[in-house]
Amino acid sequence: MASRLLLIAFFVASCSLALASDPSPLQDFCVADPNSAVLVNGVACKDPNLVQANDFLFRGLQVMGDTSNDVGSNVTVVTVAQLPGLNTFGISMARIDFAPDGINPPHTHPRATEILAVIKGSIEVGFVTSNTENRLLTKVLEIGDVFVFPQGLIHFQRNVGHDHALAIAALSSQNPGAITIADAVFGSNPDINGDILAKAFQVDKNIIYQIQSKF
Ligand SMILES: *[C@@H]1O[C@H](CO)[C@@H](O)[C@H](O)[C@H]1NC(C)=O
Repeated sequence: MASRLLLIAFFVASCSLALASDPSPLQDFCVADPNSAVLVNGVACKDPNLVQANDFLFRGLQVMGDTSNDVGSNVTVVTVAQLPGLNTFGISMARIDFAPDGINPPHTHPRATEILAVIKGSIEVGFVTSNTENRLLTKVLEIGDVFVFPQGLIHFQRNVGHDHALAIAALSSQNPGAITIADAVFGSNPDINGDILAKAFQVDKNIIYQIQSKF
């Protein structure tokens, strides 16, 4: 009886683990066919006989993103949308450029853990654990340092050097998704009611309107 319970517990635990990331492939590849009318969890496969080496290739990650925006950073993503060959592989990557003092604002990836390597400059990184601890874990990274952000947790980066900084990140989903907290909370479409945000953030409603006007 006890061993059967243990078995069931193990089964339940392994199920939730499997569901926490992209499903693993059931064939060598399933190159995304974005024009397919078939709707599946992911993207339908292109005819394997028509698959070419170019389906597995993305060019252009050497190109610096334009950081002349409000936050002073630019994320160039290589997900299944840019690289059809990585459909079903549970992996993707990104190049993150930072102007001096630039930040990659607090955000989460609903479907991926992220591992980030610093290629150039010094980058302060951090993530916050979930309720009720809400503990901040933060570090200043130098060239060659690698840091991991757990799936779903709010995290951020900031260039603390004097020049342009560069990081390369890998993510454990073909389509990690990104929820930027400021955009989601203050820039939703339509707006979240100001009364709700005033109470949630414990400030006057006018402060909420002021922030909402920026997103
Ligand atoms: C990021 O850089 C690309 C390439 O320079 C540019 O097209 C894009 O508008 C930039 N994105 C932001 C948010 O600044």
